[in-house]
Amino acid sequence: MKAITYHIPVLLQESIAGLNLSPSGTYIDATFGGGGHSRTILNALDKKGHLYAFDQDEDAVRNDINDRRFLLIPHNYSFLKNYTEYLDINSVDGIIADLGISSHQVDMAERGFSYRYDAPLDMRMDKTNPISAYELLNESTEEELRNIFSNYGEITNSNTLAREVVLARTILGMRTTAHLMAVAEKVLPHNLPLKKYLGQVFQAIRIAVNDEINNLQKFLLQSLDVLNPGGRLVVITYHSLEDRPVKDFFSSGNFLGLKHKDLHGNDNNPWKVITKKPLIPTDEEINFNPRARSAKLRIAEKK
Ligand SMILES: C[S@@+](CC[C@H](N)C(=O)[O-])C[C@H]1O[C@@H](n2cnc3c(N)ncnc32)[C@H](O)[C@@H]1O
Repeated sequence: MKAITYHIPVLLQESIAGLNLSPSGTYIDATFGGGGHSRTILNALDKKGHLYAFDQDEDAVRNDINDRRFLLIPHNYSFLKNYTEYLDINSVDGIIADLGISSHQVDMAERGFSYRYDAPLDMRMDKTNPISAYELLNESTEEELRNIFSNYGEITNSNTLAREVVLARTILGMRTTAHLMAVAEKVLPHNLPLKKYLGQVFQAIRIAVNDEINNLQKFLLQSLDVLNPGGRLVVITYHSLEDRPVKDFFSSGNFLGLKHKDLHGNDNNPWKVITKKPLIPTDEEINFNPRARSAKLRIAEKK
């Protein structure tokens, strides 16, 4: 399968421009996927340049790039620092992360990411993760489920939904995405389109299964450690739960967005924010690739 059918890269020109590439520099693509961003970076590097990429989904390895300047690390980007240390990478000039899941992951019915297909409850990006959506939905307590729906899906009737999941799994079993959809349909809040509600429910479970917010925070903190002064961090997010930590971290160096000043009243945010407002795709890009619709691009430079 060609990389372009695997995933169409989002905000490609804008994000690569945001890295402010120097041809002989060293860069990291934290979310390799189909390799669209990685290929564009490699094209801009000279023979001294280097690119390291991460992806925790073994399917992404099929898009590996045969180039001696490139190395694909098939692991979670939350191990960024472990790998830079292990590989003796002492100087990183820029990092890009294009968060969430690829089109390939959504479109493979058996991965269980999409409510468009009836499939086993899975939703793991890393297929070696022992906890899939099945374990999460069948083994979590009602309270844990309520917190997942409320925190990761911003679902307004998370109590009712959690109770209904527990009831359904006891009586009928909860094995497939169709079972989950039937439960969600039963408790659909008034005035909410079913597709929107299913989107929230599936998002909540996906985030919990892959521990996405914790991994994102670990990655952001480590990016600050590994980047050279003047190095850029470029992040593309797809929903507010991803965008908020990035925005807060860039504006303050912490996840509460708390701005600190030193004893002399100087701002001690480690970042210079390059995008005061996030960049978003043009109408043209959205027409060509509707999955780019909710993308936001933020760029910051390490001071
Ligand atoms: C939106 S896609 C990236 C697409 C890529 N930029 C391209 O142009 O093809 C996100 C990718 O990041 C991977 N991913 C998400 N979270 C990850 C994490 N914590 N560690 C490593 N890879 C991750 C997913 O498996 C997926 O392949």
